[in-house]
Amino acid sequence: MNESLLESLPVGLRELARQHLPDKPVHIPTPEERDQRERELSRRLTKQMEVQKAMVYLDKSLWPAGIPISFTFGEWKPNKQPDQEKARAIGNQAWTIAKEATKNGAFNVALLGSPGTGKTSLALAIADKLKKDKGWSWMFVSTTELKSLVEAQFDAYDVKQRIANIKRAMTEVNVLILDDFGTEGGLVSRINEPGYKGAHANLQQLMYEVANARYSKTDKMTIITTNNTNQELERIYDPKIVSRLVTKKKAHRIAFNGMEDVRAMEG
Ligand SMILES: Nc1ncnc2c1ncn2[C@@H]1O[C@H](COP(=O)(O)OP(=O)(O)O)[C@@H](O)[C@H]1O
Ligand SMILES: [Mg+2]
Repeated sequence: MNESLLESLPVGLRELARQHLPDKPVHIPTPEERDQRERELSRRLTKQMEVQKAMVYLDKSLWPAGIPISFTFGEWKPNKQPDQEKARAIGNQAWTIAKEATKNGAFNVALLGSPGTGKTSLALAIADKLKKDKGWSWMFVSTTELKSLVEAQFDAYDVKQRIANIKRAMTEVNVLILDDFGTEGGLVSRINEPGYKGAHANLQQLMYEVANARYSKTDKMTIITTNNTNQELERIYDPKIVSRLVTKKKAHRIAFNGMEDVRAMEG
């Protein structure tokens, strides 16, 4: 019992305090201890908020046909491909990219090639690794689904709201996968016709704002998968958008040429 503490109380309260106060002296934290405790609490709250935000971003994902997919590096099987050497090298390049970003910060990544060769799978594997190794949030946006949503936006208020939320997530999330970027432009034969107008103005605007907000930020990685050439992409979108989203750095461009359509071989 802390006698000096009791002495400081009015006489009438002393007996009450004697009955209810703990026997051990009450420890009054030093300013240093208080600071330490506050720092610890604020660290824990920040962490909790980050985890919650990450869940919100992932939840805003637009999956192909609405069905979520996942893929990790452990699932990458070079022997699915006739050219196993090349398939192994591609997997290693994606792995090295994830390592480099963990160590040095974000940059953009492009996975280029025809359908069924594993582009989407390795994009997901990179996001999964950065989530595990660096705690980065990620989301998946199928550009085909985004196009449908944006073109439906005109009257429906709830669609507008939903797009605004998706756009915000696309701007803020650490790793943004833009899947099948360019398919929203339509058939290649049509893209190359004279007089082709490119993607819908609303979609251009959204992509421009997202690309601009993310550009050159060390905690924002944009991963593009596409089977269009840069030339085609620049007919679909303003070249300013393409240059901010699609990297020209060779080490960050994963070329899937020589890879076969795995889906077709299984089917
Ligand atoms: N090397 C691989 N190892 C394991 N699964 C693969 C491999 N390549 C492709 N797949 C599987 O084949 C299917 C098509 O791959 P996907 O990544 O969707 O190709 P893309 O995005 O290039 O069209 C998916 O189910 C994917 O998981
Ligand atoms: Mg794909």
